[in-house]
Amino acid sequence: MTDNQAPFLSRPTVRMGLVAAGAALATILVMALYANVSTRKAEAKQTTVNVVGLDETTVDPAIWGKNFPRQYDGYLRTAEKYSTTYGGAGSEGMPKSRIQEDPRLVSIFDGYAFAIDFNQRQGHAYMLDDQRVTKRVTERKQPGACLHCHASNTVAFREQGLKQGAPGKLDEPFNSANGQAQLMAGFEAVCKMPYGEATKLVQHPVACIDCHDPKNMSLRVTKPGFIRGIAALAKSAEPVPHLPSIEKWRKGDKAVAYDANRDASRQEMRSMVCGQCHVEYYCGPKTTLFFPWDKGLKVEQIEATYDEYKFSDGKRFFDWKHAKTGAEVLKAQHPEFEMWSQGVHARSGVSCADCHMPYVREGALKISDHHVKSPLLNVSRACQTCHRFPEDELKARVATIQARTKALMDRAEDAVVALINDLDAAKKAGLDEAKLAPIFEFQRKAQWRVDYVNAENSMGFHAPQEAARILAESIDYGRQGQLALKALTEGGKLASAKPKK
Ligand code: HEC
Ligand code: HEC
Ligand code: HEC
Ligand code: HEC
Ligand code: HEC
Repeated sequence: MTDNQAPFLSRPTVRMGLVAAGAALATILVMALYANVSTRKAEAKQTTVNVVGLDETTVDPAIWGKNFPRQYDGYLRTAEKYSTTYGGAGSEGMPKSRIQEDPRLVSIFDGYAFAIDFNQRQGHAYMLDDQRVTKRVTERKQPGACLHCHASNTVAFREQGLKQGAPGKLDEPFNSANGQAQLMAGFEAVCKMPYGEATKLVQHPVACIDCHDPKNMSLRVTKPGFIRGIAALAKSAEPVPHLPSIEKWRKGDKAVAYDANRDASRQEMRSMVCGQCHVEYYCGPKTTLFFPWDKGLKVEQIEATYDEYKFSDGKRFFDWKHAKTGAEVLKAQHPEFEMWSQGVHARSGVSCADCHMPYVREGALKISDHHVKSPLLNVSRACQTCHRFPEDELKARVATIQARTKALMDRAEDAVVALINDLDAAKKAGLDEAKLAPIFEFQRKAQWRVDYVNAENSMGFHAPQEAARILAESIDYGRQGQLALKALTEGGKLASAKPKK
């Protein structure tokens, strides 16, 4: 009987078994391959190689760089100098001087530190050194608060907080109650120190730990001014459709304050990490550094917040008294986050990182370009991913927006300088300062607006129409001020001597 038996492999049952086993094996192989590919994809996504352990005490970016060499390499390249028509600080040597390029600024800032030293910004690698050597620091007394945006201070603040008696330990999670208590106590303490003392507490410019959670690399905000400022903005009634997580928080019970690290989406965080520093702020001896966002992010809302603000000495808010006229005026600083908020890109969900840190392919990996710089050096990756226009066309659109903004800004600066000169002449002619008080309000408003656009670093690109609106108001307030002063000196009625909206 054995002879009659079909060969083993031809028996139907065995054949079926084999086919099944083969299929199973194939499936296993495919699955294994798939698993392999997915891990590689995941690796590519995270670009994580855990060479070293990172925790809440790892400040030095070189250590993070062991796990993420590509991002670290880009980060180091922020030391490369460049210049575009309005961006960068020049390709070599010292950064270009903004007051030498535009001497009107010296009259506009007369009596304030910006009249003695004010340069073009340069790359992140320079932020700490540039602050240490500016004449605004070496020739004027400045508070430790200046360091808020010029150093990696997440750990330094927490260490100082612990010294102030804040609870817990340094290696507790940043977002834990203890971590936050340490941060805020340290921030308050460092703000009050003299700059020379505070700057000894830090060693690096903005670093990985200031934007990333060391446990999983997700984005986070760590700067106390932003954490408080964005919570104040959330509490206001001002619509912020470009920040949907705030709109969502407002619909809830609002029992706990808005917290970007808990509430914001990843896309929002891709702008908020920059909004930690690229914003208007108060940083002086009279109170702790703050972002003036209680009424919203628009130029007149910030102005209204300042106008209502009273220092502990009972005086109203002003940054300095103009040396020539005596007017109590405001200084604007780099309101990139605020200006971006008014533009069509923000409204369309385009983040700072989309343009300033676009994805770059490195072999099989897609990473974010940590060489933060002008997108005009990088139009193909920064713009053409969304706009299907040739590079020259996109550059020309930016150039047109910037040239228009600059032309309007020149007129606004001329108007402010003309008002300052008229006020100066009126004082020299013996006109009593008390009588001039209403005219000072025109100077304050006109100067605040032109400075806001000048201090904003995109020369209008981040929100072209908004920049034009602000400059038009500046020109109007400057010229209204001159007319009111003329009426005063010619003995006319002062009926119109209140800035009209
Ligand atoms: C749609 C793209 C886009 C978005 C979004 C965007 N920017 Fe810009 N930004 C530009 C362009 C274009 C310039 C002009 C660059 C130049 O003149 O070289 C610029 C200029 C700047 C500059 C000066 C650059 C230099 O080289 O000196 C800074 C700083 C800046 N942006 C910060 C920000 C911040 C912060 C945000 C988010 C709140 C933001 N930008 C959002 C496109 C963008
Ligand atoms: C810790 C504060 C801080 C954070 C966070 C920060 N910046 Fe900056 N940024 C600065 C300072 C300060 C400078 C100017 C440094 C100098 O001139 O020495 C600067 C300069 C720049 C420049 C000019 C670069 C050049 O080479 O001229 C660009 C563009 C820029 N930042 C964009 C961004 C973007 C986009 C983000 C978010 C991804 C961001 N920054 C986050 C503080 C910060
Ligand atoms: C809220 C964040 C923030 C604070 C606080 C801050 N800066 Fe800056 N600083 C920036 C950013 C952003 C830039 C780059 C953009 C620019 O130059 O407009 C910058 C640029 C600078 C520069 C290079 C360009 C220039 O203006 O010459 C110097 C110097 C500087 N800051 C000094 C100071 C001093 C001094 C203080 C304290 C009085 C201070 N900063 C406080 C964010 C800040
Ligand atoms: C000013 C904020 C900022 C600093 C400082 C910063 N990063 Fe990032 N980083 C970003 C942003 C924005 C992204 C994009 C994240 C996203 O889209 O989820 C990113 C993404 C990453 C990612 C995810 C993969 C990728 O490339 O998109 C890694 C890894 C990373 N950064 C490493 C580092 C390291 C290492 C350092 C320090 C050498 C560093 N980062 C410093 C803002 C920052
Ligand atoms: C992530 C997508 C995205 C990126 C990146 C992007 N844009 Fe845009 N851009 C948009 C959208 C969306 C609009 C709104 C108009 C529309 O729907 O086409 C817009 C509008 C514009 C406008 C007309 C509106 C205005 O503000 O005047 C210009 C000019 C422009 N973009 C230039 C640029 C340049 C230059 C870059 C690179 C520095 C860039 N964009 C990067 C998506 C993008």
